[in-house]
Amino acid sequence: MITGGAGFIGSHVVRLFVTRYPHYRIINADALTYAGNLANLKDIEQHPNYQFEKVNILDAKAIEGLFTKWHITDIIHLAAESHVDRSISSPMDFVYTNVVGTVNLLNVAKQHWLHDGGNHLFYHVSTDEVFGALGETGFFSETTPYHPNSPYSASKAASDHFVRAYAETYGLNTIISNCSNNYGPYHFPEKLIPLFIHNIIERKSLPVYGDGLYTRDWLYVKDHALAIDILFHQGKINETYTVGGFNEWKNIDLVKLLCKLMDEKLQRVPGESEQLITYIKDRPGHDRRYAIDASKINRELGWKPTVTFEEGLNETIDWYLNNGEWLQQVTSGAYQQYYETMYTKNKQY
Ligand code: NAD
Ligand code: TYD
Repeated sequence: MITGGAGFIGSHVVRLFVTRYPHYRIINADALTYAGNLANLKDIEQHPNYQFEKVNILDAKAIEGLFTKWHITDIIHLAAESHVDRSISSPMDFVYTNVVGTVNLLNVAKQHWLHDGGNHLFYHVSTDEVFGALGETGFFSETTPYHPNSPYSASKAASDHFVRAYAETYGLNTIISNCSNNYGPYHFPEKLIPLFIHNIIERKSLPVYGDGLYTRDWLYVKDHALAIDILFHQGKINETYTVGGFNEWKNIDLVKLLCKLMDEKLQRVPGESEQLITYIKDRPGHDRRYAIDASKINRELGWKPTVTFEEGLNETIDWYLNNGEWLQQVTSGAYQQYYETMYTKNKQY
């Protein structure tokens, strides 16, 4: 069972597992919140080894029902509320889904798996944001202490702790990976890269928070899915792994690169899109820098990113330019109101 399989990263993980492992039956359990979209999986929905189940992980009975119905053997858990800005305005949604939802899954897994003699795995997909912020130097690794600063990262940290506690207390087999910022196709346009691609297409302003000198370590989503595949099959039980792109960018430099590439692809006058950059009020509690030391997964399991940032970004921009209908669909309706509250009116957290 893959939870959150209709979201951004989850859809890439589902696609990879469904196509690479035809002998697995993949159950995609997703509540289809604003971030979940079955259009993300259109190309594989007819595969005989794929099954979608609309279920909220807050509903313990429904999760229990899925375990019984499908004899779930393993979980890759990605379902979550995932956007930091939304966690600042609605923290309780994050406590419910990310903490309570994860504990619901752990309880059902524990109940079904602990005494059946099988070899099961609860793989929890987490984020590097649980470690807080770095200064100018240094990297997050598996031994970095937790220091979450946003309601999002605090809720993910809490869920990581529960997963660890269920391994320690009940003997559940677990793996946790903490990954850096992902980018790529099917990314919901509330996060930096897809939001700015969308705004450049529409010639809307590009809202850069604060001084724009915040740093993120970007990983192409398909490389994250490959890391999840390797960890699911070969990771050491009850260990954690940090996963990253070896690819740090200050926001403003990344935005300028995006503008340059899109001017070329859209045959606009060089420099045109950069004119759209607008510095706006900073995000409260904004983490200055994230960067991952991914040497453990590289050394022990041979994983490293397969595409350069230039290749990944070009593929991503091309995907958005060729999938206007998808972009149109996800930016209509409720998105309009979110955008207005977040960027047009004075932000009220
Ligand atoms: P996303 O917001 O795109 O997708 C989340 C999915 O979870 C959606 O399909 C949504 O419908 C589903 N969902 C939300 N609440 C649910 C609930 N209560 N019950 C069932 N389904 C629910 O998120 P994403 O960016 O794909 O992230 C997936 C996971 O990876 C998250 O756990 C996130 O913390 C983690 N992660 C994300 C990044 C990143 O850069 N996006 C980096 C590292 C880790
Ligand atoms: P985001 O994509 O929200 O990911 P996260 O906060 O989880 O790292 O943001 C990436 C960076 O871009 C972060 O430093 C905040 C910044 N940012 C902006 O400057 N403007 C925006 O409109 C958004 C959404 C993000």
